[in-house]
Amino acid sequence: MHKSSVLPYSRDRENDKGRDEVQVTVIGTGYVGLVTAIGLAENGHEVICVDLNAERMEQLTKGIPPITEQGIEEALQANAARMTFTTVYPESDLYLVAVGTPERADGSCDLTAVEAVVAQISRLNPEANVVLKSTVPPGTTERLQQSYPELRFAMVPEFLREGTALADNRAPSRLVIGTRDHMLAERLETLFLTTAPVVQVDPTTAELTKYAANSFLAVKISFINEIARLADAVGADVAEVAHGIGLDPRIGPAFLRAGAGYGGSCFPKDIAALTALAKTYETPLHVIEGADKTNEAQLDYVLQKIRPVKGQRIALLGLAFKPGTDDLRDAPALRLAERLEALGVHITGYDPAAKTLLDQKPTLDEAIAEADAAVIMTEWDEMKQLEPERLQRLMRTPRLIDGRNCWAYADRPHGVEYEGIGRYNQTFTNNQIR
Ligand SMILES: NC(=O)c1ccc[n+]([C@@H]2O[C@H](COP(=O)([O-])OP(=O)(O)OC[C@H]3O[C@@H](n4cnc5c(N)ncnc54)[C@H](O)[C@@H]3O)[C@@H](O)[C@H]2O)c1
Repeated sequence: MHKSSVLPYSRDRENDKGRDEVQVTVIGTGYVGLVTAIGLAENGHEVICVDLNAERMEQLTKGIPPITEQGIEEALQANAARMTFTTVYPESDLYLVAVGTPERADGSCDLTAVEAVVAQISRLNPEANVVLKSTVPPGTTERLQQSYPELRFAMVPEFLREGTALADNRAPSRLVIGTRDHMLAERLETLFLTTAPVVQVDPTTAELTKYAANSFLAVKISFINEIARLADAVGADVAEVAHGIGLDPRIGPAFLRAGAGYGGSCFPKDIAALTALAKTYETPLHVIEGADKTNEAQLDYVLQKIRPVKGQRIALLGLAFKPGTDDLRDAPALRLAERLEALGVHITGYDPAAKTLLDQKPTLDEAIAEADAAVIMTEWDEMKQLEPERLQRLMRTPRLIDGRNCWAYADRPHGVEYEGIGRYNQTFTNNQIR
């Protein structure tokens, strides 16, 4: 792996020592930028938020958040006095960069926005501190540092989970600071004001830490999904298997819920980027690539369970990639919808927060009305609590495929043909529950 030999490990910044931040500029006001900015404002800092999206900035100035996230509207309003929203880059001493790093057609990470932002910062203040919060491939920060030797870089990966983003920001599990500038590292510790463990490393290690975290979680999901398929085949209950292995502290219970697979704005694109990068270093990532393949196959597995027939009406319950958010980026529900539509099925959709181009109904009852099957794709509380009686009353055929293994009624007789993922499916059909 490339390592810069020209970077100074520490700079003389005695004048800055112990200084409280008074103003921070956050560039990119999407999920990460906005949540980070709110957290900084809550820590008492004055935050200028910059985004190219003028409409977004206008709405935010009025206190209207562009995303669905628990408590975000209240937090925005409570910190309004310390937050400014603008489309104009200000001259600043400290910039946090949280613009998107999407996937290119070849899977690699598109750094166009990050590079444009850094170029703009260097024009405004050639000696500014630049903190990358965007997920960027290992080596990116060091490369930028070489191109802009006067700027002072750090890479601080973001680990928030959509759905609990503000809570995660207020109580992070760790703060990873990747920089060769000790003074900047100290400033960042003060800025983020956390009691979480701080992992201070070089930028490339910080970048790889982020990709490794997401890849590991994806591997866990795909692992339990493979076990779920085997559980279906042999007649075992994957939820109990997950419980049984999760009690082992070496394994842990998190991310062991079998289902329709992962999606969202991070896992698929980060895995694609890491895999593409690894190829350039001729370092194959068999486990991670396997997780990705399993994830693709898992959606076909759900499709098989639906047994779709041309002309049928199928309700997709939950469209966002996870509950608590309206984020539809790479949502498994939308990928499943494409496959079903290609088979000539009419899809109705329902989601309490996300808006799509599907035939989306305003209520769950309208989505399942006259449906031949319903498929839970996001475990919103409303899906978990969907009573069997409603399925029986409203659907043409009361059939539920639980793509999140979340239905509270799964283990009781209820007159609904229920099928989970790896949950005694042979015995769940024809109302013979356990
Ligand atoms: N969403 C998550 O859960 C999450 C978690 C961890 C890390 N990340 C990473 O954080 C980064 C941002 O993700 P996000 O989900 O917040 O993205 P997002 O698409 O929600 O927001 C990005 C914002 O940047 C703005 N932008 C783009 N180019 C700009 C420019 N040149 N100047 C100013 N603004 C510009 C866009 O208008 C948009 O509002 C990505 O690298 C992502 O991988 C995301």
